[in-house]
Amino acid sequence: ENIRLSRQAVNFCHANGVPVEAELGAISGKGLTLEGKAGNEGERLYETPAGLINSIGLQNPGVRHFIQHELPAMKRLGPAAMANLGGTIETYEEGARLLDGTDVDLLELNISCPNVKAGGIAYGIKAESAREVVARVRACTQKPLVVKLSPNAENITEMALACEEAGADGLSLVNTFQAMAIDLASRRPVFQNVFAGLSGPAIRPIALRMVYQVCKAVHVPVVGL
Ligand code: FUM
Repeated sequence: ENIRLSRQAVNFCHANGVPVEAELGAISGKGLTLEGKAGNEGERLYETPAGLINSIGLQNPGVRHFIQHELPAMKRLGPAAMANLGGTIETYEEGARLLDGTDVDLLELNISCPNVKAGGIAYGIKAESAREVVARVRACTQKPLVVKLSPNAENITEMALACEEAGADGLSLVNTFQAMAIDLASRRPVFQNVFAGLSGPAIRPIALRMVYQVCKAVHVPVVGL
């Protein structure tokens, strides 16, 4: 009752005339950090002609709150429940251990958030950093582990292979492209962190190309985003 599905998900189901719970394979929550986060100051969303730039900063209630409150509500909705883990390597590990003891269906490891200073995309650029993070989190949980990749990776195919070799059961891609916007009136960057993440129609063909390349390279399932 206190869980809201994304507007796109609900619209998709309604447009296809099927009950929401019958159409969705899984529901994912917002990226979680071990302790809750208020998110970024200043502008968080900025529309461009063909997409949306966001700088949310992983606003979330924290893993323990998720386990107590959001997860049971998600489980009641029917589709598989997925927990997305953000943060730093130490908090990914602790979060994965805590979630391992719950009935969450799968974990998604977010090594691709462009809007936090520590962790996130810092692990998603170089394949060898990602390999280490995935191996360490893999050792903390028996749950199916999906790794969410950044399109800003140096080489998306090498990145995908490194994550697969380190124990990922699946991959999801792509997260947002690092982008920026300028406020013409103030002649200043719109976002306090200057850079933020672009999604939407502008990136779709590039994302599709990356999904295609990764599908050709790995043996684990791939979720196209
Ligand atoms: O700013 C954010 O919370 C974005 C997260 C993400 O792209 O993973």
